[in-house]
Amino acid sequence: MGSKSRNDFHAINGQRVSHVYREVHGGNEAGFPCRRKVMPVFLKGAEVEKPMQRSRHIPVLMEEAMQLLQCRPGGIYLDGTVGSGGHSLEILHRSAPGGRVIGLDLDPAALERARSVLPEDRVWLFHENFSNLDIALQRAGIEKLDGILMDLGVSMDQLTCRNRGFGFSVSAPLDMRYDPSGSITAYSIVNRYSVDELRRIFREYGEEPYAGKIARALERHRGRRPIETTTELAEIVMKAVPPAVRRRTRIHPATRVFQAIRIMVNDELHNLRVAIEKGVKLLPVGGRFCIISFHSLEDRMVKQAFRAYQHGCECPPRLPQCVCGKRPVLSVITKRPVVPGKEEIQRNPASRSARLRAAEKIAAHNETGRE
Ligand SMILES: C[S@@+](CC[C@H](N)C(=O)[O-])C[C@H]1O[C@@H](n2cnc3c(N)ncnc32)[C@H](O)[C@@H]1O
Repeated sequence: MGSKSRNDFHAINGQRVSHVYREVHGGNEAGFPCRRKVMPVFLKGAEVEKPMQRSRHIPVLMEEAMQLLQCRPGGIYLDGTVGSGGHSLEILHRSAPGGRVIGLDLDPAALERARSVLPEDRVWLFHENFSNLDIALQRAGIEKLDGILMDLGVSMDQLTCRNRGFGFSVSAPLDMRYDPSGSITAYSIVNRYSVDELRRIFREYGEEPYAGKIARALERHRGRRPIETTTELAEIVMKAVPPAVRRRTRIHPATRVFQAIRIMVNDELHNLRVAIEKGVKLLPVGGRFCIISFHSLEDRMVKQAFRAYQHGCECPPRLPQCVCGKRPVLSVITKRPVVPGKEEIQRNPASRSARLRAAEKIAAHNETGRE
């Protein structure tokens, strides 16, 4: 990152962005060295690939997320997707003195990157699914949190890593697991799932209009030999869609199929639903929940879940009065999702589809009948 783009970054919205963030992620052509500190990372025995020297990932909607999270000195925050540590580092800066972060990630390589930039005395890192955030808190000995941030999806480090198979700009084995110890890979889905299952996955998780055509093309192809690489898969999808679509679309025709397979491999929607449920329960009154999503399925889930907690009562409208006893637990702060401005998209095109939603806990669960 050159000094010009750094300056641009620090001018975003006329807001100051922490010097700590700059110290770690910035760098002129000569490059600042990354701070390297050692702290325990609680791994579940997965292989850790050699970490990259410096992260390629630029955290999205940083200032906006921090303003919504409202970190306070001494607060304890959960970063459910610690990634390369960008958001966590800023949370630590804004919650100083004494603030702490519990950082989770499914990817041991991401945890290693986070470990190399975060100060060891204020961070617990866990190799854990955010759907198990309650377990991570127990292991850290924490009962209540002041705020939760989740920045969903795939990081630039994962997307550009040659052997992870998240993207199709280079040929890579079909993997797409955040957690390399996970049991389902993109290969097993593409080569073993029935045409009907593939069609459903592409339609449900990719909102792909040519789901059937693509599923049948995969079946024909794998009847001859297995589909091994990301570029092979992208090419088959490309050939399966009508020529007019191939020419017309702004995005590569395989983008939706890749998104669908990644969601399926990592059970992303289920994990998100569980994490929201558990997170809302664990937040104290006044605590904030901020979620950055990158596709409409996630964003819809976050919007609907936050709204349901804001609404409280789940009785059918035909009932004359409430019998479920559920009261509002959250107040939604972002009526519409917060999106990156032009400057951010220019500086970091990967941010263009980011959507940030935030809510504040307004009542304890046991007063609401939701327990
Ligand atoms: C967009 S990146 C987060 C980047 C981070 N905010 C930063 O500033 O560097 C998303 C991260 O979430 C992780 N992830 C995805 N699903 C997860 C889950 N269910 N539980 C824990 N981590 C998950 C991915 O491995 C990835 O490292």
